Amino acid sequence: MNKTIFITGTNSGFGKATVERFAKAGWKVAATVRDINKNSELFNDLENVSLYELDVTNFNQVDEVAQSVIKKFGKIDVVVNNAGYCLMGPTETSTMEQIKAQYETNVFGVFAVTKAFIPHFRENKDGMFINLASASAQFNYPFIAAYGSSKWAVRGITESLGIELAPFNIEVKAVYPGAHATKIFTKLDDGATLFQSIFQHYKQYYQTFLSAQQELPNVTDPSNIADEIYKAATNRKGKLHIISGGDAKMQSLMKKILPERAFQKMQIRSILQPLSKMEISFTKWLMGSNTSKLDVDVKKGND
Ligand SMILES: NC(=O)c1ccc[n+]([C@@H]2O[C@H](COP(=O)([O-])OP(=O)(O)OC[C@H]3O[C@@H](n4cnc5c(N)ncnc54)[C@H](OP(=O)(O)O)[C@@H]3O)[C@@H](O)[C@H]2O)c1
Repeated sequence: MNKTIFITGTNSGFGKATVERFAKAGWKVAATVRDINKNSELFNDLENVSLYELDVTNFNQVDEVAQSVIKKFGKIDVVVNNAGYCLMGPTETSTMEQIKAQYETNVFGVFAVTKAFIPHFRENKDGMFINLASASAQFNYPFIAAYGSSKWAVRGITESLGIELAPFNIEVKAVYPGAHATKIFTKLDDGATLFQSIFQHYKQYYQTFLSAQQELPNVTDPSNIADEIYKAATNRKGKLHIISGGDAKMQSLMKKILPERAFQKMQIRSILQPLSKMEISFTKWLMGSNTSKLDVDVKKGND
């Protein structure tokens, strides 16, 4: 019998690539998008994909969608908590409303979707959650304190539930991607330029940090993550914490082997001076051959 997967946030990036990956492998897929009218054509060519409207911050809607998906498919095998976005900018210039909203989607959304499916998995004594964390939950970057910490929370949820739900044969895994060519940098919440007079203190460091992206226009293709999620879903014995992308793997390794002050010094340097030619070449090499152009729309305070 074909298995069924439920995936949130599927109109672009990892979510979209993952829907396509599983549909092509013959899985039944329940895919969700925030606005179904804007995405009415999405996955029309894939007959085993059903589309649902879901904003993960609307907890009543989360429960309703989970119930109707369970009713339609009978059994859900895997749930992927993918929906998320990034608030970017210095913490001093980000508002508390923005920081709370970041947690509403990236953390409370994960709790809501997970809670909606636990009873179904527990009754079946079978199920798997795969959560999209981030490399920034292995070593956080500057100017994404709220985003990165929300992903550390996802890592914490994953570890805790992996133990708590083990007696019911429920697995909980997390994926930690490095930089991938999705739409995430075109959907940023700008936490930098709202308060120009304060932002002036950070501008040069912020712009230096962002300049790395200009040097690295191509980053790992999202199909890489879809493959990792497919491997995780189809192998109960595989890794629980999956670090993905050459850049993420290298930095995780460096954090493990370097003394903590040396690692922090290296990160501080990333906001003080642009990457050297050697670092650019090395990072390009780390990204591997499966790369695509990263679309970026970041307010840098030039306007
Ligand atoms: N790309 C990377 O380099 C990278 C690295 C590490 C981790 N991640 C994580 O990977 C996941 C997928 O991101 P992506 O890179 O594929 O970016 P993306 O292309 O922007 O996709 C994000 C998806 O999440 C949806 N979403 C955002 N807020 C939502 C909400 N409240 N309710 C429901 N859906 C919501 C978006 O829908 P809308 O189009 O309606 O906004 C979109 O479908 C995220 O959790 C992200 O944090 C990405």
